[in-house]
Amino acid sequence: MDDDILKVLVSQEEIKQINHRLGQQIKEDYAGKVPIMIGILKGASVFLSDLIREIDGYLEIDFMQTSSYGDGFESSGEVKVTKDLDADVTGRDIIIVEDIIDSGHTLKKLIEVLEAKNANSVKICTLLDKEERREVDIDVDYIGTRVENEFLVGYGLEYLGKYRNLPYVGVLKPEIYQN
Ligand code: IMP
Ligand code: MG
Repeated sequence: MDDDILKVLVSQEEIKQINHRLGQQIKEDYAGKVPIMIGILKGASVFLSDLIREIDGYLEIDFMQTSSYGDGFESSGEVKVTKDLDADVTGRDIIIVEDIIDSGHTLKKLIEVLEAKNANSVKICTLLDKEERREVDIDVDYIGTRVENEFLVGYGLEYLGKYRNLPYVGVLKPEIYQN
């Protein structure tokens, strides 16, 4: 698998430091509260599971899944929720956990859906932010690191369903997706 990677963008060590920093911040910001951290399947599952172990405080987790009509590189504006929450989030403090924010369409839809469920607060935490690609305006509360406009895989991110289990985030060699 490593042979398919052009360069490592966010190393295992950097990811560890990011998770530690975000975990501390979330712990302080939610002191005395029990937030529900909602991982967006499947990509954010790796990040969520490491991040929550950096938070020394009470919390719950849940998951949602979305689909969007796109070609694997571009997500369209039409986002559908394909797996909804198990928990009742009325009056609760929610942190949406994403692997990467690109156009922002996925998150915009999720924020709408969650606000309609009468949560007390909805914040966003993403490992990676491809800010220059944004098509809709979103306030992101916790950002691991900003990244350039390159196609990334690893640490939850996939290409054709693969590479999620790489322990770092890397840039795929162009020949892999040009073939
Ligand atoms: P958005 O709706 O355009 O913000 O898309 C966000 C979703 O697109 C992420 O949750 C990823 O699943 C996917 N995505 C965006 N950029 C990349 C990338 O570089 N590699 C792999 N998946 C990506
Ligand atoms: Mg995703």
